[in-house]
Order: sequence, then structure tokens, then C-alpha cells
Amino acid sequence: MRISINRNADTPIYLQIKNQLRDMIFSGVLPEDFLLPPERSLAKTLEVNRSTVIKAYQELKADGLVDSHVGRGTVILSQAAKKLSLMEGYINPLPWYQLFTESITSSNDTIIGDIMAMTGGDVISFAGGIPAPNLYPVKIMEEIQKELFQKNGQELFLHSPVEGYYPLRESISYLLRQRQQITASPKDVVVLSGSQQGLDFAARIFIRPGDTVIVEEPTFFGAIQIFRSAGARVIGVPIDNDGMRIDVLESLLVRHKPKFIYTLPTFQNPSGVTLSLERRYQLLNLAYQHQLPIVEDDPYGELYYGNTPVPPLKALDRHGYVIYLSTFSKALFLGLRVGWVAAPPQVLAKFAHLKQMTDLHVNTPAQLLLDAFIRRGDYERHIALLRQEYAERRNIMLKALEKYKIPGISWNKPEGGFYIWCRLPDNIVRHKLVANAGKRGVVFLPGEAFYPDGTQGDTHIRLNYTFAKPQQIEEGIKYLMQAVRETVAASSEQENKRNIKPLV
Ligand SMILES: Cc1ncc(COP(=O)(O)O)c(C=O)c1O
Repeated sequence: MRISINRNADTPIYLQIKNQLRDMIFSGVLPEDFLLPPERSLAKTLEVNRSTVIKAYQELKADGLVDSHVGRGTVILSQAAKKLSLMEGYINPLPWYQLFTESITSSNDTIIGDIMAMTGGDVISFAGGIPAPNLYPVKIMEEIQKELFQKNGQELFLHSPVEGYYPLRESISYLLRQRQQITASPKDVVVLSGSQQGLDFAARIFIRPGDTVIVEEPTFFGAIQIFRSAGARVIGVPIDNDGMRIDVLESLLVRHKPKFIYTLPTFQNPSGVTLSLERRYQLLNLAYQHQLPIVEDDPYGELYYGNTPVPPLKALDRHGYVIYLSTFSKALFLGLRVGWVAAPPQVLAKFAHLKQMTDLHVNTPAQLLLDAFIRRGDYERHIALLRQEYAERRNIMLKALEKYKIPGISWNKPEGGFYIWCRLPDNIVRHKLVANAGKRGVVFLPGEAFYPDGTQGDTHIRLNYTFAKPQQIEEGIKYLMQAVRETVAASSEQENKRNIKPLV
């Protein structure tokens, strides 16, 4: 019996449960005399309140489809399906959730789509991981595009090789060598539709249902979703100011025998921390000892605001254990959907095969555009500009946090990347904070999204400083802190009420 809850739907959750059970009765998936799961256990499985399940069962009872007795539980009545078919106008519904595969049924998480939707209008958004639109090199791109139309004509709209447009692979190889100390020939690179596609391919290549994947905790929610929907158990390793705790990792490797380690060692999303050089070597050594691939996700490494960060794991790896993913989404624009993987040849062949099966190749004009942008030296100039501008926006946000801070709030100072990881006062009811900030036109990402089991992280929120305009950042933080203050006050009031003892 599979029930799927959509928390963003307008239909109340108890009705979603009731309707799906009713459809299952009608279609015969739940036969007569079938004992429904106890309310408490169904509530636990679906991660809803017990009262929600009770209400759904009560509704089914009121429709005469189930009966319930204390001690016996809730059973499907005989003739229930027939009764439904006799109801006027009742058409046998298609039981969609029974048809979906397990991976899709278990994933109702629409967080990425929701963030995309949260960035328009008058909202001050600290939610997404989107580069500043006013810095997009639109004029330069227009110029390049004109040249490409004149020079390349039809080639611009022809197919490209599955592995990517070769000159772009050369350009990426050049960037990796010049800027990241990574030696990878053009043939060691495959162009992808964003690094998100690389995560999906890594999951498809390595994960069988029930396998374990190790990630940092917190980590990028997109990766958690992908690994989960491939059937993996996603186990988190805590981080501190120097990145992943390698001492904890070691015992997890022995206990869980994972398929690979997924890590964001540089300006991690969401925490902003960077894995120290010493730990990078320790991590590689552990991978060698346990014969484990490392999937290194590095979208932010170029965007540093102080000293050059330590080299990527891929640059330090002498034995071909690291699969390196990166993207143009953070340094340029998300909309082009171009990322890449640099990996050992055996792995790259699998990536290319999956690319061919999934969507043949990355869009040709986007690849030519990016290649020309890099070859003209515009990429390097643009990165230099971003470093200045984003450092300034980060500083504005840090200053505003300091100015409006309230007791119990703390945050880190990221040396690069897109995010500030902010700790909330202890007793705050986080979903009320989302609502109170929303009322004031400010959105952010709640910390739970970044934890594999979703039960931690309610003490933190992620604040992005690259998307909002500099003049909006201070205002947004001011409103956010007002919302925090209001939520803390309401939470304490509620707590006080609960603690009042009746007079005897
Ligand atoms: C850590 C990390 N990996 C991957 C991605 C996906 O990037 P792309 O747009 O290249 O698919 C993101 C985007 O937010 C990210 O933060």
C-alpha cells in the first residue's frame, strides 16, 4: 500500500490520504477485510500527525467503506468497492500512485521548484543559489552570438558530439589547469546539462537500491534527493569549521561500506566552509584504503573573496579516485544549463553513455557561446568582477546581521561561495518564522532541507547574498530579524502558557 503526500497541494493532507485509500478500495488494491495500518504507524510512515490519519479513517467510516473497533483496528468492509461503484457519478479513478515507481513515489520534495518560484515580484529572496542577474555579461554574449551567427551559420544549430563540443572541452581543460591546478585533457572531460545531471548520472552508475552513500551533513539538497530516489541510504558526516569530520567518516566507512563519498569541499553549500588541506589528504587516503570513489562537487571554487582556496581534491588525487563535477551556473548563468565532469576514462565512458541515452548532448549554441566567451578571456575578467561584487554583497549582509542581530543568532563568515549559514535562537518554531518572514516579503531556505533525514537543521537557515540587489540586502535582513524577534516572542509566550500550573 503506497500513499503519497503532496504538502504543497491545496487539498488537505487528511483528504489526500482518504482519497487515495478510497481509490485503492475501489480498484481492488485493498480487498475486503483488509486491515488498514494502525493510525500511529501510518502517521509515522507518512510523517504526519496521528490526528490527520484518524480524520482520514473517520471520513472513510462515514462513507461506509471501513469499520473500526477498539482493539480490532480499521478494516475494509465487505462490498465497499461495490458501494463505491454504485455512487452516482463515481468514475473509477486511475490509481496513479500505484503506477509510479518507488523512487518517484517516495520523492515528494519539490524544494528546488519552490525556490525557483520564490524569486519573482517584490520578494527579497535569500533563498536560491542564483548569481546576480545585473552582472550577467549580456552585452558580451550578444556580441559573441552575432559573430557566431556570421561565422558558424548552420553549425550553430547542428547536433554536437555526445561528449560535448570539442573546443569547449579544450577550454574547460584549460580552465581546470590554469585556475584549479587540475590536469585533465579535453578527452578527460564530458560536457553535461548542468552538474545536477552529473549527480544524477553518478547515482545511476553506482547506486543499487539499498546501497549507502556518504555525504556531508548538512549538504546540497539536490544531491540528497537524487541519491535517495536512486534507492540509496544517505548517511551524513558532521562538519566543523574545517569541513567534513574525517575522524567520524572513518568509522562510518567501516560500518556502512558505502558506494561513494559525495563531498563539496570548497565553500560548501549550505555552510560555506572549506575542507582544510590536511583533511583533504586524509580524505583521499581513506578513499584509497577503502577503495571508494569520491564525487567532488565544486560549483563555487572559483568564487573566493580572500586568499586562493586550497586545491580541489581532484588536483591532489594521484590515483584516479575522484570524479570532479562543476558548472557554469554559478559563475555565469543557470539558464544555459552547462556543466561538466572530469573523471577517469572508465567512468567517463559511462557518463557519455548515459548522456547519449538521456538527451544526446548539451545544446549546441550554448556550448559555442561559452567556448568563445572563455577563449576571448571574458570568463577570467568576469570571475574577477564577480569576486569583487560578491565580496561586497557578503559584507553588506554580514554588516546588516551585526546591526540587527538579536540574542541567540549567530553566523559564519564565508570566504567564498554564495551562502551564510545562520543559527537561530534555540526555542524558535521554524515554520512560523518562514510565515512571519514571508509576510514581510523575505524568503530564505530552512536548514532541514540540507540534512539527509530531515530531522535536523531546524536550528539553521541558509541565506544567499548573490541574488538580492545590494540595496535590498540590508532591508531584507532587517525584516528577517523582525520576523525572528516576533517568532521568538510568540514561541516563548506559548511555552509560558504551557508551563502555567493550575491553582489548587
Ligand atoms: C552544490 C551544488 N551542486 C550542483 C548544483 C547544480 O548546478 P547546475 O545548475 O550546474 O545543475 C548546485 C546548484 O545550486 C549546487 O549548489
